[in-house]
Amino acid sequence: MTNFKPVCIATWRFPNASLKAGEMLAEGASALDAVEQGVMVEEADIRNTTVGRGGAPDREGNVTLDACIMAPSGNAGAVVYLKNNTHAVSVARKVMEETPHVILAGEGANQFARQHGFEKEDLLTKASEEAYKEWLKKKEYKPIINIENHDTIGMLCIDQKGDIAGACTSSGLSYKMNVRVGDSPIIGSGLYLDNEVGGAVATGMGEAILKSVGSFLIVELMRQGKSPQEACETAIMRIIKQNPNFKDFQAAFIAINKNGEIGSYCIQEGFSYMEYRAGENKNIPSKFYI
Ligand code: GLY
Repeated sequence: MTNFKPVCIATWRFPNASLKAGEMLAEGASALDAVEQGVMVEEADIRNTTVGRGGAPDREGNVTLDACIMAPSGNAGAVVYLKNNTHAVSVARKVMEETPHVILAGEGANQFARQHGFEKEDLLTKASEEAYKEWLKKKEYKPIINIENHDTIGMLCIDQKGDIAGACTSSGLSYKMNVRVGDSPIIGSGLYLDNEVGGAVATGMGEAILKSVGSFLIVELMRQGKSPQEACETAIMRIIKQNPNFKDFQAAFIAINKNGEIGSYCIQEGFSYMEYRAGENKNIPSKFYI
């Protein structure tokens, strides 16, 4: 396909990320380059406390990042528990392109990053350190809906050739257990795409998303003829059915098919997504269950 009108969608209100990716697509960049550079904008933004540098630490005080990326070919790469690099998505892309593997974790991922020229960085900012010290006073683990379990950026882009790519990057839940891994780096859960069908990305409570394998489910439902909206609603209803405590957390999916049709659904009110298309960069409130 040529001359497809490119489109970028991304979770939450991250206008600078979708603008970056959308403008790159308009200039003819590949969907893969656009998703990587789009989510990098959020990884570098220290005001965002659940992506990249400035992300909230785990209970031991470590800031650890999870990320994945998926190419139109179906190739994929991911890192989990990456400790000293802001741009986890770029390390994930190197895993995809320069190893025979899909996921590198922990110390191995850190070593791999160093070997590929990613310099060691300190991801704990003054603000996140102060918030962590405050948290230590009570050590209460109760993520605040739409605040402490959100901000994962998941992005899907379709380029001028009509090819789709996706990326998902997160520091995970604030004050998670040491070495906890969420949905964001797991292909099929935080992100899935098929260049013949479309793609889906997730944000919210990683444990619930992992158990639903929701992004894979959505792509398969779209393959069977459901619209992106119907498919996102089915995946959220599956999470609601599996989790009697669904009122206590947020989970959200956005999806796009190869015609550029978009869907979005979540449990709680308050989730929105970005859409960049034909020079317009819009934030759109999602439909929700409760
Ligand atoms: N969705 C991000 C996480 O739970 O880690």
